[in-house]
Amino acid sequence: MQIEKVEFYYFSGTGNTIILVEKMVETFKKYGVQVQLRPIEKSDPETINLQHTLGLAFPVAGLSTYPLVWEFIESLPITDGTPVFMLDTLAGYSGGIVGPLHNKLKKKGYEPIGACEIIMPLNIFFIQSDETRSKLIEEGLKKADKYAKAIINDEANWGSFPVLPTFLCNMSRFLMRSWEWKSQQKLLGFQVKKSKCNQCGICSQICPLNNIEMKEYPIYKCKCQFCMRCVSLCPQKAINCKVTYKGKTHQAVTAKKFITPDKSSIKDEIKAKP
Ligand SMILES: Cc1cc2nc3c(=O)[nH]c(=O)nc-3n(C[C@H](O)[C@H](O)[C@H](O)COP(=O)(O)O)c2cc1C
Repeated sequence: MQIEKVEFYYFSGTGNTIILVEKMVETFKKYGVQVQLRPIEKSDPETINLQHTLGLAFPVAGLSTYPLVWEFIESLPITDGTPVFMLDTLAGYSGGIVGPLHNKLKKKGYEPIGACEIIMPLNIFFIQSDETRSKLIEEGLKKADKYAKAIINDEANWGSFPVLPTFLCNMSRFLMRSWEWKSQQKLLGFQVKKSKCNQCGICSQICPLNNIEMKEYPIYKCKCQFCMRCVSLCPQKAINCKVTYKGKTHQAVTAKKFITPDKSSIKDEIKAKP
């Protein structure tokens, strides 16, 4: 199958997924494949062009992925054979995503052509050393390049998925929903250190869920999904989260990646060389 154009929808909390997506875009372009990049949190799944190959990229969270990514996937239009590939980034174990996503997409009429999981630095609980993180990123970039080539050459596959993932997926989706309960938001929640905050409002602009209201200082509402974007990318390191590791955070890109004048993310459209 010849791939001419990819509509690539992605979500990234702290940048790991973005940098691999950008690498894949670079490889696609090199081989004459056009790519349209779309941030999931700002996209309407109904407007997807089903004539093109669909790409989905996102981080693993709670053994599957964030509710905002699932909601996007659930809302994808029904189609008849649109090819689709997925990429996820993770710290070690994804459990319930590859199989359940395959089944979901298949039911909607998509043709799954490739799934790839790439280990990247952990961005919560335990923050690895700079050296380990650099190595993981370097390896990750190589794998992303190889994966993009496999997609172009029709050599990618979706792999196998035994029974357990479906159970993990359902458990994960329940777990993630419970994170949105008020009590959990309070338990895991964020505190803004007023002594450090310079009121720049970046956290509020980059939050994918519009969960941070910028008054004099940032005020968190109750729909955080813990993607860690605000904590990691605050230029003042003024946001504390109870599940960060010794106050350390991981970030693979700067906040600029998520802020453009129209508030969309990295360049919307990347055209292939003629
Ligand atoms: C709330 C949360 C839950 C996570 N759950 C998992 C998990 O279940 N398995 C795993 O391997 N990594 C997990 N991770 C690590 C991320 O998947 C990993 O660091 C990913 O590359 C982050 O991508 P991003 O920078 O694009 O957001 C989790 C991270 C967060 C913030």
